[in-house]
Amino acid sequence: MPRKPPPSLKTQRSQGGRRFGNVSLPELPASALYSHPSLGRLWKKVHLAHSPFLKRSSIRNLYTHPAKTLRHLLRNQPYHWIALGCADGMKEALLLKKLHPPDCLLAADTNLNLARQAALRLPARKKICRKIDLTHELPASFSTALQRVPSNPNSKTRYLPLLITLFGVLPNLSPLPLLQRISRFLRPRDFLLFSANLAPGSRGRAGTLRILPQYDNLPTRRWLAGALSRLRPKWKDGSIAFGVFPDPLQPSLSRIEARWMVNKKPTHILFSSRRPTARQVEAWLKASGLSRVERWMDPRGEEAVWLVTRKA
Ligand SMILES: C[S@@+](CC[C@H](N)C(=O)[O-])C[C@H]1O[C@@H](n2cnc3c(N)ncnc32)[C@H](O)[C@@H]1O
Repeated sequence: MPRKPPPSLKTQRSQGGRRFGNVSLPELPASALYSHPSLGRLWKKVHLAHSPFLKRSSIRNLYTHPAKTLRHLLRNQPYHWIALGCADGMKEALLLKKLHPPDCLLAADTNLNLARQAALRLPARKKICRKIDLTHELPASFSTALQRVPSNPNSKTRYLPLLITLFGVLPNLSPLPLLQRISRFLRPRDFLLFSANLAPGSRGRAGTLRILPQYDNLPTRRWLAGALSRLRPKWKDGSIAFGVFPDPLQPSLSRIEARWMVNKKPTHILFSSRRPTARQVEAWLKASGLSRVERWMDPRGEEAVWLVTRKA
């Protein structure tokens, strides 16, 4: 009897399924590329070799600049922090060097090993780690867990302001539904700080083609091959081909895709990374009921960080 694949490794046809001629291409959920500890380690190698965050100081600065505004908004008062899709928390650590530590940090990722590393790295009075699937609503148990933390003697209220961070995740999941889910979770005095990897310039496809080499490289192919080797039932023998295609839910949005090719024909989408323009991100905010407090963009226009709140 063939072994049934674990749910996280099943391919999905509904949201991610793409049309290729008359054929719908099933898409592997992003969590299947990260959730196993060995895949977390392979992804980390990709990050160390190719991430612009590690190569360019102007990108790293994007994660320290918001501290000034946040210090002003939080007024040195206690707050809680939920770090979504935090991996091992490198970006959050840069920000936190310039902020007072939160009362409670909740590190949440599909890869619990990585979330634990983030919790070790980041200072906080109390720390919680959770496995999460960001393709679903944010669990109400997160709010309960934070409220259960015994109050800091300095805090005047039980309901502390919440800072949610979401760094590097937007490219991997359908961005508008994700922002809408987070918006529903936020209360009016809470903040969301998120990053988006952008298509430089105003023409999405041309900008995305320029950054394709950040993806089509050996460490990324090894990482994707690692995810493939865990799939049951196994896919037919084939090879990986990278390209730029329109997003199935928003055709004006460019996506880098790694497709699984069998006999020169694509059978699956193995990986995708969306590259919006800044204007497209602003339109998602509007459609999610979020309003911009501030935005920081790197000089080449390849990455930006937004600080937003829920509209009252
Ligand atoms: C590109 S990495 C970014 C990691 C880190 N925040 C950074 O910016 O370097 C995407 C992160 O999202 C997590 N992730 C992917 N799909 C997820 C899902 N469905 N639910 C929760 N986390 C997910 C991965 O485990 C990984 O840590």
